[in-house]
Amino acid sequence: MRRNIVHPGADSLTYEIRSIVAVGKKMCDMGQEMVWENIGDPVAKGENIDPWIKETVHDVLDNCKSWAYCDSQGELATREILADFVNQRGGAQISPEDILFFNGLGDAISKIFSGMRREARILGPSPAYSTHSSGEAAHSGYEHLTYRCDPSNNWLPDLQDIRNKVQYNDTIAGILLISPNNPTGSVYPREILEGVVEIAREFDLMLINDEIYSHIIYNGAETFHLSEIIGDVPGIILRGISKELPWPGSRCGWIEVLNKDKDPIFSRYFKSLVDSKMLEVCSTSLPQAVIPRIYKDERFPAHLERRAKMFEQRANEAYDILSQVDGVSLVKPQGAFYVTVVFNDNALHNKQSLPLDNREITHYLQGLLQSGKNHDHRFAYYLMASFGICVVPLSSFCCKHMGFRFTLLEMDDKKRVDTYKRIAQAVTLYLNS
Ligand SMILES: Cc1ncc(COP(=O)(O)O)c(C=O)c1O
Repeated sequence: MRRNIVHPGADSLTYEIRSIVAVGKKMCDMGQEMVWENIGDPVAKGENIDPWIKETVHDVLDNCKSWAYCDSQGELATREILADFVNQRGGAQISPEDILFFNGLGDAISKIFSGMRREARILGPSPAYSTHSSGEAAHSGYEHLTYRCDPSNNWLPDLQDIRNKVQYNDTIAGILLISPNNPTGSVYPREILEGVVEIAREFDLMLINDEIYSHIIYNGAETFHLSEIIGDVPGIILRGISKELPWPGSRCGWIEVLNKDKDPIFSRYFKSLVDSKMLEVCSTSLPQAVIPRIYKDERFPAHLERRAKMFEQRANEAYDILSQVDGVSLVKPQGAFYVTVVFNDNALHNKQSLPLDNREITHYLQGLLQSGKNHDHRFAYYLMASFGICVVPLSSFCCKHMGFRFTLLEMDDKKRVDTYKRIAQAVTLYLNS
């Protein structure tokens, strides 16, 4: 073409959580059976939707209004209820006008970054959830800027590292938090959130907290919403129903904008997000019409509690199995539904392997490894080729630690325990090969 139409950030749009599936699928075509432990979709892993939730959706579907467009910012009655929930917690108060619906948080994240001035950077966690890190990198045209989360301190953000990065890089306009966290399962205590708010206030920054897992907490953790702690600092909370109903296919998420009127630049920025949504007309109407009915249903708290207990039991089960393995370490998750395992420093090298008995897969794997992959990608490929388990390498979450993430989502108890045991066995075999 006579003009290059490729965006400078195009190479940053990577999502290993799904990309690794392409490799796994190829191996399946060659005869390998695969357990998919890469993606955070509870429904795909066999979770049934509670009958009362399904009935609620049926009822709403019967109303023709749920088939129509809704307000560009989202259904007003739904935004009113969500604003009430925020306000009832105390802390920063919002109105329905401070809420904006998107087609899932994936859409929200992409718009949040692409709607920002290119030179304005958002400092995010390492490890990072890829949609955030790729979105920020693609928008800025540079590698995503990250702060350290420390595996030897429950994967909590390193406040000194955040402070240093913010102090010495004045392109940083905001700090992103993900609590409860994907991929680490950590839930940030009040002191950490307060520490980040203090830095934001001192350097005149905005904050973003991705709270999509805020109703999936266990093992003694307590969720603090950003609104309770933020004071008068501008902030955005990200919320959605993909994980907690769970209804990932609804493509429905929203942002709650805090202290919009405390800063004219922040307020103008939010208006630009609303304006851009207007150009699209609106986000998915049906799930928005469902939300008030479900959130106000007296069965909903018990539903959340049951699921939190379920993930707690699985987190402990996975921890008990993997913590016995030499050469790796892991933190017991307290939220969300992932486990991250880290290889000890220098435990990996490029001569390690797992037994392979399929010639075609062996040949394919050799080809893949020729292009010089990270050590943890190498392990993940061998794990698929030899044990038929697909996990996500930790280095693909913008992280310098080598490791991998798997999920707590498998509904078949026997299969789940067997998968965790086989992962443990594979790690031991690989490290001793
Ligand atoms: C931390 C985090 N934020 C956002 C999302 C995207 O969710 P949605 O289904 O609303 O696009 C995910 C999905 O896995 C996630 O883990």
